Amino acid sequence: MNEFKDITRDIVKHRIFKKTRQIWHHHQSVFHHSLAVAYLSYKIAKKIGLDYRSAARAGLLHDFFLYDWRAPRKKKFFEKHGFTHAREAHKNAVEHFSLNPVEEDAILKHMFPLNIKPPSYAVSWIVTLADKYISIAEYLRRTSDAFKVLKREKAKHMRP
Ligand SMILES: [Fe+2]
Ligand SMILES: [Fe+2]
Repeated sequence: MNEFKDITRDIVKHRIFKKTRQIWHHHQSVFHHSLAVAYLSYKIAKKIGLDYRSAARAGLLHDFFLYDWRAPRKKKFFEKHGFTHAREAHKNAVEHFSLNPVEEDAILKHMFPLNIKPPSYAVSWIVTLADKYISIAEYLRRTSDAFKVLKREKAKHMRP
């Protein structure tokens, strides 16, 4: 854990990156979603002897966009968040941090297959798979929380 913290500290503490704490994602902030993706990517890459430093840093920066994607905006289909935010994250990441080609590739292509270019490096594949795994887990958690609330409400109304 200390190694992971050392690798990601400058990003986590960065003034602009900290803004992702205020931006909501699936079940939590973009910041916490990205931290989970970064840590899972780091663990997988380390386990199979790949560049875990790039995996951690790209994982942390893969959703580095600074707008509320749920806000209603009139957009054409291919201008929607799902198709464009990888480029936005990459733009912000290269503006504020120095990235290697593997990190750039992992950020730009993490939305494969929605963005049709597949990842070029094994580490990029790890980040895109970790993102999908964490996103599904967050979605399921949100759904199960909603069911818990429904159950509670139902129980309240059933009380004599
Ligand atoms: Fe994303
Ligand atoms: Fe993500």
